[in-house]
Amino acid sequence: MTSEKNILCIGAGYVGGPTMAMIALKCPQYKVVVVDIDRQKIKAWNSDSLPIFEPGLDEVVKKTRGNNLFFSAEIERGIQEAQIIFVSVNTPTKTFGQGAGRAADLQYWEKTARQILACSNDSKIVVEKSTLPVRTASAMERILNDNSKGVHFEVVSNPEFLAEGTAVRDLEFPDRVLIGSKETPDGIRARKEVVDIFLNWVPREKILESSVWSSELSKLTANAFLAQRISSINSISALCEKTEADVDEVAGAIGMDSRIGPKFLKASVGFGGSCFKKDILNLVYICESYGLEKVARYWESVVEINEYQENRFVQNMLANMFNTVAGKKVALFGFAFKANTGDTRESPAIYIAQGLLAEHADVVITDPKALKNARKDLKNFKKGLTFEANPYKAAKGAHAIAVLTEWDVYKDLDYERIFKSMVQPAFIFDGRNILDHKRLFHMGFNVFAIGKAPLKHF
Ligand code: NAD
Ligand code: UGA
Repeated sequence: MTSEKNILCIGAGYVGGPTMAMIALKCPQYKVVVVDIDRQKIKAWNSDSLPIFEPGLDEVVKKTRGNNLFFSAEIERGIQEAQIIFVSVNTPTKTFGQGAGRAADLQYWEKTARQILACSNDSKIVVEKSTLPVRTASAMERILNDNSKGVHFEVVSNPEFLAEGTAVRDLEFPDRVLIGSKETPDGIRARKEVVDIFLNWVPREKILESSVWSSELSKLTANAFLAQRISSINSISALCEKTEADVDEVAGAIGMDSRIGPKFLKASVGFGGSCFKKDILNLVYICESYGLEKVARYWESVVEINEYQENRFVQNMLANMFNTVAGKKVALFGFAFKANTGDTRESPAIYIAQGLLAEHADVVITDPKALKNARKDLKNFKKGLTFEANPYKAAKGAHAIAVLTEWDVYKDLDYERIFKSMVQPAFIFDGRNILDHKRLFHMGFNVFAIGKAPLKHF
Protein backbone atom coordinates (compact mmCIF):
# COMPACT_ATOMS: atom_id res chain seq x y z
CA MET A 1 0.00 0.00 0.00
CA THR A 2 1.38 3.44 -0.84
CA SER A 3 1.12 5.81 2.09
CA GLU A 4 -0.93 8.96 1.87
CA LYS A 5 1.73 10.82 3.84
CA ASN A 6 5.19 10.07 5.13
CA ILE A 7 5.61 11.55 8.57
CA LEU A 8 8.97 11.67 10.30
CA CYS A 9 9.66 12.48 13.91
CA ILE A 10 13.19 13.41 14.96
CA GLY A 11 13.65 12.56 18.65
CA ALA A 12 12.38 9.27 20.06
CA GLY A 13 11.97 10.37 23.67
CA TYR A 14 9.03 10.71 26.07
CA VAL A 15 7.21 12.90 23.56
CA GLY A 16 8.33 11.63 20.15
CA GLY A 17 7.72 7.91 20.85
CA PRO A 18 4.18 8.03 22.31
CA THR A 19 2.94 10.87 20.05
CA MET A 20 3.99 9.14 16.88
CA ALA A 21 2.66 5.79 18.09
CA MET A 22 -0.75 7.45 18.55
CA ILE A 23 -0.62 9.10 15.11
CA ALA A 24 0.27 5.73 13.57
CA LEU A 25 -2.60 4.04 15.42
CA LYS A 26 -5.19 6.59 14.38
CA CYS A 27 -3.90 7.13 10.83
CA PRO A 28 -3.18 3.73 9.26
CA GLN A 29 -2.98 5.48 5.88
CA TYR A 30 0.23 7.30 6.91
CA LYS A 31 3.72 5.87 7.28
CA VAL A 32 5.26 7.17 10.49
CA VAL A 33 9.00 6.90 11.11
CA VAL A 34 10.70 7.92 14.37
CA VAL A 35 14.46 8.50 14.33
CA ASP A 36 17.02 9.30 16.99
CA ILE A 37 20.78 9.70 17.27
CA ASP A 38 20.66 7.38 20.27
CA ARG A 39 20.90 3.94 18.69
CA GLN A 40 20.32 2.15 22.00
CA LYS A 41 17.02 3.96 22.37
CA ILE A 42 15.96 2.97 18.85
CA LYS A 43 16.93 -0.63 19.64
CA ALA A 44 14.76 -0.50 22.75
CA TRP A 45 11.80 0.97 20.81
CA ASN A 46 12.14 -2.01 18.47
CA SER A 47 12.23 -4.52 21.35
CA ASP A 48 9.72 -5.88 23.86
CA SER A 49 11.14 -3.60 26.51
CA LEU A 50 10.36 -0.01 25.46
CA PRO A 51 12.73 2.71 26.67
CA ILE A 52 9.98 4.43 28.67
CA PHE A 53 7.24 3.14 30.94
CA GLU A 54 3.86 4.59 30.10
CA PRO A 55 0.56 2.83 30.84
CA GLY A 56 -1.08 1.55 27.64
CA LEU A 57 1.89 2.38 25.41
CA ASP A 58 3.02 -1.23 24.88
CA GLU A 59 -0.36 -2.09 23.33
CA VAL A 60 -0.34 0.90 20.96
CA VAL A 61 3.21 0.13 19.83
CA LYS A 62 2.43 -3.57 19.39
CA LYS A 63 -0.52 -2.77 17.14
CA THR A 64 1.39 -0.36 14.90
CA ARG A 65 5.09 -1.22 14.88
CA GLY A 66 6.15 -2.86 11.64
CA ASN A 67 2.83 -1.95 10.00
CA ASN A 68 2.94 1.82 9.66
CA LEU A 69 5.19 2.76 12.61
CA PHE A 70 8.95 2.37 12.33
CA PHE A 71 11.80 3.26 14.68
CA SER A 72 15.08 3.83 12.92
CA ALA A 73 18.53 5.34 13.26
CA GLU A 74 18.62 6.30 9.58
CA ILE A 75 17.97 10.00 10.02
CA GLU A 76 19.05 11.13 6.54
CA ARG A 77 16.84 8.66 4.75
CA GLY A 78 13.95 9.52 7.05
CA ILE A 79 14.29 13.21 6.19
CA GLN A 80 14.48 12.54 2.45
CA GLU A 81 11.32 10.43 2.42
CA ALA A 82 9.12 12.62 4.64
CA GLN A 83 6.75 15.41 3.69
CA ILE A 84 6.06 16.41 7.28
CA ILE A 85 8.82 16.38 9.90
CA PHE A 86 8.01 16.69 13.59
CA VAL A 87 10.98 17.69 15.74
CA SER A 88 10.79 16.61 19.37
CA VAL A 89 14.42 16.72 20.41
CA ASN A 90 15.25 17.85 23.93
CA THR A 91 15.45 21.55 24.77
CA PRO A 92 17.08 21.56 28.21
CA THR A 93 18.13 24.59 30.23
CA LYS A 94 21.41 26.06 29.02
CA THR A 95 24.29 25.26 31.34
CA PHE A 96 26.91 27.57 29.84
CA GLY A 97 27.44 31.06 28.47
CA GLN A 98 24.78 33.73 28.20
CA GLY A 99 21.53 32.76 29.88
CA ALA A 100 23.13 29.78 31.68
CA GLY A 101 20.68 28.26 34.16
CA ARG A 102 17.68 29.91 32.50
CA ALA A 103 17.60 30.12 28.74
CA ALA A 104 16.67 27.10 26.62
CA ASP A 105 19.63 25.33 25.05
CA LEU A 106 18.62 25.24 21.41
CA GLN A 107 21.72 23.52 20.05
CA TYR A 108 19.92 20.19 19.44
CA TRP A 109 17.09 21.99 17.68
CA GLU A 110 19.39 24.03 15.49
CA LYS A 111 21.51 20.98 14.59
CA THR A 112 18.34 19.20 13.59
CA ALA A 113 17.19 22.11 11.43
CA ARG A 114 20.55 22.17 9.66
CA GLN A 115 20.42 18.43 9.12
CA ILE A 116 16.92 18.70 7.66
CA LEU A 117 18.20 21.33 5.26
CA ALA A 118 21.28 19.32 4.30
CA CYS A 119 19.30 16.14 3.54
CA SER A 120 16.25 17.62 1.83
CA ASN A 121 15.76 17.58 -1.92
CA ASP A 122 12.19 18.86 -1.83
CA SER A 123 10.05 21.27 0.20
CA LYS A 124 8.72 20.13 3.56
CA ILE A 125 6.72 21.14 6.59
CA VAL A 126 8.73 21.24 9.81
CA VAL A 127 6.66 20.96 12.98
CA GLU A 128 7.94 22.24 16.31
CA LYS A 129 6.88 19.58 18.80
CA SER A 130 9.56 20.43 21.36
CA THR A 131 8.80 23.23 23.79
CA LEU A 132 10.60 26.31 22.51
CA PRO A 133 11.04 29.98 23.36
CA VAL A 134 8.54 32.24 21.65
CA ARG A 135 9.86 33.38 18.25
CA THR A 136 12.04 30.29 17.66
CA ALA A 137 10.12 29.59 14.46
CA SER A 138 11.45 32.79 12.95
CA ALA A 139 15.09 31.77 13.57
CA MET A 140 14.38 28.28 12.27
CA GLU A 141 12.77 29.55 9.07
CA ARG A 142 15.77 31.74 8.46
CA ILE A 143 18.16 28.80 8.83
CA LEU A 144 16.03 26.49 6.71
CA ASN A 145 15.06 28.87 3.95
CA ASP A 146 18.43 30.50 3.43
CA ASN A 147 19.34 27.92 0.79
CA SER A 148 20.13 27.75 -2.89
CA LYS A 149 18.51 24.35 -3.38
CA GLY A 150 15.16 25.75 -4.43
CA VAL A 151 13.42 24.02 -1.53
CA HIS A 152 11.08 25.80 0.88
CA PHE A 153 10.21 24.96 4.48
CA GLU A 154 7.16 26.07 6.44
CA VAL A 155 7.62 25.96 10.21
CA VAL A 156 4.47 25.07 12.13
CA SER A 157 4.17 25.00 15.92
CA ASN A 158 2.31 22.09 17.49
CA PRO A 159 3.29 22.02 21.18
CA GLU A 160 2.64 18.87 23.17
CA PHE A 161 0.55 19.00 26.33
CA LEU A 162 0.70 15.34 27.40
CA ALA A 163 1.61 14.54 30.97
CA GLU A 164 3.76 11.54 31.82
CA GLY A 165 1.93 8.59 33.30
CA THR A 166 -1.21 9.51 31.34
CA ALA A 167 0.43 10.11 27.96
CA VAL A 168 -1.62 7.58 26.01
CA ARG A 169 -4.94 8.87 27.34
CA ASP A 170 -3.85 12.51 26.87
CA LEU A 171 -2.90 11.78 23.27
CA GLU A 172 -6.06 9.87 22.47
CA PHE A 173 -8.44 12.32 24.16
CA PRO A 174 -6.60 15.65 24.27
CA ASP A 175 -8.21 18.70 25.90
CA ARG A 176 -7.06 20.55 22.80
CA VAL A 177 -4.52 20.36 20.01
CA LEU A 178 -2.83 23.64 19.21
CA ILE A 179 -1.43 24.34 15.75
CA GLY A 180 0.18 27.67 14.93
CA SER A 181 1.65 28.96 11.71
CA LYS A 182 2.39 32.13 9.82
CA GLU A 183 -0.74 33.83 8.52
CA THR A 184 0.50 33.71 4.90
CA PRO A 185 -1.16 31.45 2.26
CA ASP A 186 1.79 29.00 2.52
CA GLY A 187 1.67 29.11 6.31
CA ILE A 188 -2.06 28.45 6.40
CA ARG A 189 -1.72 25.62 3.87
CA ALA A 190 0.97 23.98 6.02
CA ARG A 191 -1.14 24.41 9.14
CA LYS A 192 -4.06 22.71 7.41
CA GLU A 193 -1.87 19.69 6.57
CA VAL A 194 -1.07 19.28 10.26
CA VAL A 195 -4.72 19.85 11.25
CA ASP A 196 -5.67 17.05 8.82
CA ILE A 197 -3.50 14.58 10.75
CA PHE A 198 -5.30 15.23 14.04
CA LEU A 199 -8.75 15.32 12.42
CA ASN A 200 -8.39 11.54 12.09
CA TRP A 201 -9.41 11.24 15.75
CA VAL A 202 -9.65 14.63 17.47
CA PRO A 203 -13.00 16.49 17.25
CA ARG A 204 -12.73 19.64 15.09
CA GLU A 205 -13.71 21.96 17.95
CA LYS A 206 -10.74 20.75 20.00
CA ILE A 207 -8.24 21.70 17.32
CA LEU A 208 -7.16 25.30 17.80
CA GLU A 209 -5.43 27.26 15.10
CA SER A 210 -3.40 30.34 15.92
CA SER A 211 -0.40 32.41 14.95
CA VAL A 212 2.90 30.64 15.40
CA TRP A 213 3.93 33.05 18.18
CA SER A 214 0.76 32.50 20.18
CA SER A 215 1.21 28.77 19.84
CA GLU A 216 4.83 28.84 21.04
CA LEU A 217 4.00 31.12 23.95
CA SER A 218 0.86 29.18 24.95
CA LYS A 219 2.96 26.13 25.73
CA LEU A 220 5.28 27.99 28.11
CA THR A 221 2.28 29.75 29.64
CA ALA A 222 0.33 26.52 30.19
CA ASN A 223 3.22 24.96 32.10
CA ALA A 224 3.81 28.16 34.06
CA PHE A 225 0.13 28.32 35.11
CA LEU A 226 0.04 24.65 36.12
CA ALA A 227 3.21 24.97 38.19
CA GLN A 228 1.96 28.22 39.67
CA ARG A 229 -1.10 26.46 41.07
CA ILE A 230 1.11 23.90 42.79
CA SER A 231 3.38 26.58 44.23
CA SER A 232 0.34 28.54 45.37
CA ILE A 233 -1.14 25.63 47.30
CA ASN A 234 2.31 24.60 48.59
CA SER A 235 2.87 28.12 49.93
CA ILE A 236 -0.47 27.82 51.74
CA SER A 237 0.60 24.40 53.09
CA ALA A 238 3.39 26.12 55.03
CA LEU A 239 0.83 28.45 56.60
CA CYS A 240 -1.48 25.52 57.39
CA GLU A 241 1.28 23.82 59.35
CA LYS A 242 1.59 26.94 61.51
CA THR A 243 -2.13 27.45 62.05
CA GLU A 244 -3.57 23.90 62.23
CA ALA A 245 -5.65 24.52 59.12
CA ASP A 246 -5.62 21.46 56.83
CA VAL A 247 -4.35 22.10 53.31
CA ASP A 248 -6.48 19.35 51.75
CA GLU A 249 -9.59 20.89 53.30
CA VAL A 250 -8.56 24.34 52.08
CA ALA A 251 -7.89 22.98 48.57
CA GLY A 252 -11.25 21.18 48.60
CA ALA A 253 -13.04 24.35 49.65
CA ILE A 254 -11.46 26.66 47.08
CA GLY A 255 -11.52 24.02 44.32
CA MET A 256 -15.32 23.89 44.46
CA ASP A 257 -15.41 27.44 43.22
CA SER A 258 -15.99 26.76 39.55
CA ARG A 259 -13.77 29.73 38.70
CA ILE A 260 -10.84 28.07 40.48
CA GLY A 261 -11.57 24.38 39.81
CA PRO A 262 -10.24 21.35 41.72
CA LYS A 263 -7.29 20.21 39.61
CA PHE A 264 -3.61 20.79 40.36
CA LEU A 265 -4.27 21.83 43.93
CA LYS A 266 -2.62 18.84 45.59
CA ALA A 267 -0.05 20.08 48.05
CA SER A 268 3.14 18.07 47.83
CA VAL A 269 6.82 17.87 48.54
CA GLY A 270 7.21 19.94 45.36
CA PHE A 271 6.73 19.60 41.64
CA GLY A 272 9.29 17.74 39.57
CA GLY A 273 9.52 16.56 36.00
CA SER A 274 11.68 17.59 33.12
CA CYS A 275 9.66 20.61 32.09
CA PHE A 276 8.03 22.83 34.71
CA LYS A 277 11.23 24.31 36.10
CA LYS A 278 13.00 24.54 32.76
CA ASP A 279 10.04 26.11 31.00
CA ILE A 280 9.40 28.69 33.73
CA LEU A 281 13.07 29.64 33.84
CA ASN A 282 12.96 29.98 30.09
CA LEU A 283 9.91 32.25 30.40
CA VAL A 284 11.77 34.28 33.03
CA TYR A 285 14.74 34.62 30.71
CA ILE A 286 12.58 35.71 27.77
CA CYS A 287 10.85 38.33 29.95
CA GLU A 288 14.23 39.63 31.13
CA SER A 289 15.49 39.84 27.59
CA TYR A 290 12.51 42.08 26.73
CA GLY A 291 13.18 44.22 29.82
CA LEU A 292 10.09 42.91 31.66
CA GLU A 293 11.78 42.63 35.06
CA LYS A 294 8.62 42.57 37.19
CA VAL A 295 7.05 39.89 35.04
CA ALA A 296 10.26 37.86 35.24
CA ARG A 297 10.37 38.09 39.05
CA TYR A 298 6.70 37.11 39.31
CA TRP A 299 7.23 33.83 37.46
CA GLU A 300 10.59 33.15 39.06
CA SER A 301 8.88 33.06 42.45
CA VAL A 302 6.99 29.93 41.33
CA VAL A 303 10.30 28.07 41.12
CA GLU A 304 11.56 29.65 44.34
CA ILE A 305 8.52 28.43 46.29
CA ASN A 306 9.12 24.95 44.89
CA GLU A 307 12.70 24.94 46.13
CA TYR A 308 11.50 26.31 49.47
CA GLN A 309 9.00 23.44 49.73
CA GLU A 310 11.66 20.79 49.07
CA ASN A 311 14.02 22.37 51.61
CA ARG A 312 11.24 22.72 54.13
CA PHE A 313 10.55 19.00 53.88
CA VAL A 314 14.12 18.05 54.82
CA GLN A 315 14.23 20.70 57.58
CA ASN A 316 10.98 19.33 58.99
CA MET A 317 12.35 15.80 59.08
CA LEU A 318 15.47 16.96 60.80
CA ALA A 319 13.67 19.14 63.36
CA ASN A 320 11.21 16.42 64.30
CA MET A 321 13.78 13.62 64.50
CA PHE A 322 15.55 15.40 67.37
CA ASN A 323 17.70 17.55 65.09
CA THR A 324 19.81 14.71 63.78
CA VAL A 325 19.41 11.95 61.23
CA ALA A 326 23.10 11.00 61.22
CA GLY A 327 23.41 7.21 61.20
CA LYS A 328 19.61 6.79 61.16
CA LYS A 329 18.02 4.67 58.47
CA VAL A 330 15.47 6.62 56.45
CA ALA A 331 13.34 4.83 53.83
CA LEU A 332 12.22 6.92 50.87
CA PHE A 333 8.97 5.51 49.44
CA GLY A 334 9.05 6.56 45.81
CA PHE A 335 11.67 8.26 43.69
CA ALA A 336 9.81 9.00 40.44
CA PHE A 337 8.69 12.63 40.06
CA LYS A 338 5.08 11.40 40.01
CA ALA A 339 3.25 8.06 40.04
CA ASN A 340 2.99 5.76 37.02
CA THR A 341 6.29 6.73 35.48
CA GLY A 342 9.88 5.64 35.86
CA ASP A 343 11.02 9.19 35.06
CA THR A 344 13.01 10.91 37.80
CA ARG A 345 14.03 14.11 36.02
CA GLU A 346 13.97 16.99 38.52
CA SER A 347 12.20 14.71 40.98
CA PRO A 348 11.93 16.30 44.44
CA ALA A 349 13.19 12.92 45.71
CA ILE A 350 16.64 13.74 44.30
CA TYR A 351 16.89 16.85 46.47
CA ILE A 352 15.42 15.17 49.54
CA ALA A 353 17.84 12.23 49.21
CA GLN A 354 20.78 14.59 48.76
CA GLY A 355 19.69 16.66 51.77
CA LEU A 356 19.42 13.58 53.98
CA LEU A 357 22.73 12.15 52.75
CA ALA A 358 24.39 15.48 53.53
CA GLU A 359 23.11 14.98 57.09
CA HIS A 360 24.73 11.51 57.09
CA ALA A 361 21.47 9.57 57.16
CA ASP A 362 21.44 5.99 55.83
CA VAL A 363 19.06 6.42 52.93
CA VAL A 364 17.20 3.45 51.43
CA ILE A 365 15.29 4.12 48.25
CA THR A 366 12.40 2.03 47.04
CA ASP A 367 10.24 2.61 43.94
CA PRO A 368 8.25 0.26 41.67
CA LYS A 369 9.63 1.70 38.40
CA ALA A 370 12.34 4.26 39.02
CA LEU A 371 15.20 2.45 40.78
CA LYS A 372 17.34 2.32 37.63
CA ASN A 373 17.07 6.08 37.16
CA ALA A 374 17.51 6.71 40.90
CA ARG A 375 20.84 4.86 40.79
CA LYS A 376 21.98 7.10 37.93
CA ASP A 377 20.78 10.29 39.64
CA LEU A 378 22.68 9.50 42.83
CA LYS A 379 25.73 7.83 41.30
CA ASN A 380 28.08 10.29 43.01
CA PHE A 381 26.99 9.15 46.46
CA LYS A 382 28.71 5.95 47.46
CA LYS A 383 28.21 5.97 51.24
CA GLY A 384 24.97 5.63 53.15
CA LEU A 385 22.81 4.83 50.15
CA THR A 386 21.01 1.61 49.20
CA PHE A 387 18.24 0.63 46.79
CA GLU A 388 15.57 -1.89 47.63
CA ALA A 389 12.64 -2.91 45.44
CA ASN A 390 10.59 -4.28 48.34
CA PRO A 391 9.10 -1.50 50.54
CA TYR A 392 8.80 -3.81 53.55
CA LYS A 393 12.51 -4.58 53.40
CA ALA A 394 13.29 -0.90 52.81
CA ALA A 395 11.41 0.07 55.99
CA LYS A 396 12.82 -2.72 58.16
CA GLY A 397 15.00 -1.24 60.89
CA ALA A 398 14.30 2.32 59.70
CA HIS A 399 13.69 5.29 61.99
CA ALA A 400 11.58 7.07 59.42
CA ILE A 401 9.68 6.67 56.16
CA ALA A 402 9.23 9.56 53.75
CA VAL A 403 6.59 9.12 51.06
CA LEU A 404 7.86 11.03 48.03
CA THR A 405 5.81 9.59 45.15
CA GLU A 406 2.07 8.96 45.23
CA TRP A 407 2.23 5.35 43.99
CA ASP A 408 -1.00 3.47 44.81
CA VAL A 409 1.03 0.58 46.15
CA TYR A 410 2.11 2.66 49.16
CA LYS A 411 -1.49 3.31 50.19
CA ASP A 412 -2.25 -0.37 50.70
CA LEU A 413 0.83 -1.62 52.52
CA ASP A 414 0.49 -3.42 55.85
CA TYR A 415 1.65 -0.52 58.03
CA GLU A 416 1.10 -2.53 61.28
CA ARG A 417 3.76 -4.92 60.02
CA ILE A 418 5.99 -2.06 58.92
CA PHE A 419 5.61 -0.27 62.26
CA LYS A 420 6.68 -3.37 64.19
CA SER A 421 9.78 -3.75 62.03
CA MET A 422 10.95 -0.15 62.56
CA VAL A 423 13.08 1.50 65.24
CA GLN A 424 10.93 3.32 67.82
CA PRO A 425 9.82 6.06 67.92
CA ALA A 426 8.85 5.53 64.29
CA PHE A 427 8.20 8.51 62.00
CA ILE A 428 6.26 8.88 58.77
CA PHE A 429 6.62 12.01 56.65
CA ASP A 430 3.94 11.94 53.99
CA GLY A 431 5.15 14.21 51.21
CA ARG A 432 2.12 13.40 49.06
CA ASN A 433 -0.70 13.22 51.63
CA ILE A 434 -1.82 9.81 50.40
CA LEU A 435 -1.86 7.84 53.65
CA ASP A 436 -4.50 7.52 56.37
CA HIS A 437 -2.73 9.69 58.92
CA LYS A 438 -5.07 9.12 61.87
CA ARG A 439 -4.88 5.36 61.44
CA LEU A 440 -1.09 5.46 61.31
CA PHE A 441 -1.02 7.65 64.40
CA HIS A 442 -3.19 5.15 66.30
CA MET A 443 -0.80 2.37 65.29
CA GLY A 444 1.94 4.31 67.05
CA PHE A 445 3.58 6.27 64.25
CA ASN A 446 4.47 9.94 64.63
CA VAL A 447 2.93 11.37 61.48
CA PHE A 448 3.93 14.53 59.63
CA ALA A 449 1.97 15.42 56.52
CA ILE A 450 2.21 18.38 54.18
CA GLY A 451 0.06 21.28 55.32
CA LYS A 452 -1.42 19.50 58.35
CA ALA A 453 -0.89 19.64 62.09
CA PRO A 454 1.59 16.96 63.17
CA LEU A 455 0.24 13.85 64.92
CA LYS A 456 2.89 12.94 67.46
CA HIS A 457 3.08 10.91 70.63
CA PHE A 458 5.51 13.16 72.49
P1 NAD B 1 13.77 13.24 25.67
O1 NAD B 1 15.09 13.64 26.19
O2 NAD B 1 13.04 12.11 26.29
O3 NAD B 1 13.88 12.92 24.10
C1 NAD B 1 14.56 13.73 23.18
C2 NAD B 1 15.26 12.81 22.19
O4 NAD B 1 15.85 13.60 21.15
C3 NAD B 1 16.42 12.01 22.81
O5 NAD B 1 16.18 10.64 22.62
C4 NAD B 1 17.65 12.48 22.02
O6 NAD B 1 18.59 11.45 21.79
C5 NAD B 1 17.03 12.95 20.72
N1 NAD B 1 17.87 13.87 19.96
C6 NAD B 1 18.57 14.96 20.40
N2 NAD B 1 19.21 15.56 19.39
C7 NAD B 1 18.93 14.83 18.26
C8 NAD B 1 19.29 14.94 16.90
N3 NAD B 1 20.09 15.94 16.48
N4 NAD B 1 18.83 14.02 16.03
C9 NAD B 1 18.02 13.02 16.45
N5 NAD B 1 17.63 12.85 17.73
C10 NAD B 1 18.08 13.75 18.63
O7 NAD B 1 12.87 14.56 25.71
P2 NAD B 1 11.28 14.64 25.81
O8 NAD B 1 10.86 14.51 27.22
O9 NAD B 1 10.69 13.76 24.78
O10 NAD B 1 11.05 16.17 25.43
C11 NAD B 1 11.22 16.63 24.11
C12 NAD B 1 10.64 18.02 24.02
O11 NAD B 1 9.23 17.97 24.29
C13 NAD B 1 11.20 19.03 25.00
O12 NAD B 1 11.26 20.28 24.39
C14 NAD B 1 10.19 19.05 26.12
O13 NAD B 1 10.16 20.29 26.78
C15 NAD B 1 8.90 18.84 25.38
N6 NAD B 1 7.82 18.21 26.15
C16 NAD B 1 8.07 17.16 26.98
C17 NAD B 1 7.01 16.54 27.67
C18 NAD B 1 7.25 15.39 28.60
O14 NAD B 1 6.30 14.98 29.25
N7 NAD B 1 8.42 14.83 28.72
C19 NAD B 1 5.71 16.97 27.46
C20 NAD B 1 5.49 18.04 26.59
C21 NAD B 1 6.56 18.65 25.94
C1 UGA C 1 3.43 18.59 32.78
C2 UGA C 1 2.09 19.15 32.26
O1 UGA C 1 1.04 18.66 33.09
C3 UGA C 1 1.85 18.72 30.82
O2 UGA C 1 0.66 19.33 30.33
C4 UGA C 1 3.04 19.17 29.96
O3 UGA C 1 2.88 18.73 28.63
C5 UGA C 1 4.32 18.58 30.53
O4 UGA C 1 4.48 19.01 31.91
C6 UGA C 1 5.55 19.04 29.82
O5 UGA C 1 5.54 20.06 29.16
O6 UGA C 1 6.55 18.34 30.00
P1 UGA C 1 4.25 16.25 33.73
O7 UGA C 1 5.43 17.02 34.17
O8 UGA C 1 4.45 14.98 32.98
O9 UGA C 1 3.31 17.18 32.79
O10 UGA C 1 3.34 15.87 34.98
P2 UGA C 1 2.30 16.67 35.89
O11 UGA C 1 1.15 15.80 36.12
O12 UGA C 1 2.04 18.03 35.39
O13 UGA C 1 3.08 16.78 37.27
C7 UGA C 1 4.22 17.60 37.41
C8 UGA C 1 4.67 17.62 38.86
O14 UGA C 1 3.74 18.34 39.66
C9 UGA C 1 4.78 16.23 39.48
O15 UGA C 1 5.91 16.18 40.30
C10 UGA C 1 3.51 16.11 40.30
O16 UGA C 1 3.63 15.23 41.37
C11 UGA C 1 3.35 17.55 40.78
N1 UGA C 1 1.97 17.90 41.14
C12 UGA C 1 0.98 17.86 40.20
C13 UGA C 1 1.69 18.32 42.43
O17 UGA C 1 2.57 18.38 43.29
N2 UGA C 1 0.40 18.68 42.74
C14 UGA C 1 -0.60 18.65 41.82
O18 UGA C 1 -1.75 19.01 42.18
C15 UGA C 1 -0.30 18.22 40.51
